[in-house]
Amino acid sequence: MKYFFANWKMYLDFDETMILTNQLLSEIHATDVYKSLSVAFFPNTIAISEVIKACQDTEIAVGAQTVNWVPKGAYTGAVSAQLFSQLGCSYALLGHSERRYIFGENNDDIRKKIEACIDANITPVICIGETISDVENGKEEYRIKKQLMKALDGLNISSCIVAYEPVWAIGTGKNCDANQAGDRIAMIKQEILQYTAHTVPVLYGGSVDEHNVLSYTQQEIIDGVLVGKSSTTYDSCIGIIKQMMIR
Ligand code: PGA
Repeated sequence: MKYFFANWKMYLDFDETMILTNQLLSEIHATDVYKSLSVAFFPNTIAISEVIKACQDTEIAVGAQTVNWVPKGAYTGAVSAQLFSQLGCSYALLGHSERRYIFGENNDDIRKKIEACIDANITPVICIGETISDVENGKEEYRIKKQLMKALDGLNISSCIVAYEPVWAIGTGKNCDANQAGDRIAMIKQEILQYTAHTVPVLYGGSVDEHNVLSYTQQEIIDGVLVGKSSTTYDSCIGIIKQMMIR
């Protein structure tokens, strides 16, 4: 079973989100995708409850793109893991590079969000990856290991997913070489062993599309993909799903 996670970011408005959801649902239902793929949509927060309703009688999961770590209180503009859980979210993306580098989230913030998700019964999807300046300074492994350590040390987490997303590959059209991604993911899985005895699936993300997806998902070590831009139009999203079913 491979994972196909679609991160729609803030690309789509409410109506566009619902049109895409319904188009994908009818195609997915017709083709028995569930036998080979675990699918989750990550819509914008405004659309989440309607997408959850639309997916109710399917095996498609829905997740939040970020959460606040305090369950309730005076946090203007925030939506907590607990509130997303009450809506019916199964997953939350945490530590996505856009949250780290545009909104200034650090490893400590992300750790609090991971713990909040565990408390709220949401499976965290922990996003990690090196920046281009890490690459230039030979710090790729250091960055990845540090992000993992800060996220997982002392937690013995039983249910989580990690997404390896090199920051330089996100939204740039410059996807990471598939063998390099496989090697990194092998290293990440080895590293995770020191933090939990449970199996943690590790996905690749960063400019995945219908033309390159198989180069990742055909590798045993890569458990699936987290896709941004190419998951936001029907043709490319279905194209990726169909490719993944061929493997
Ligand atoms: P992208 O985004 O597929 O548009 O590169 C991936 C992500 O941000 O998860």
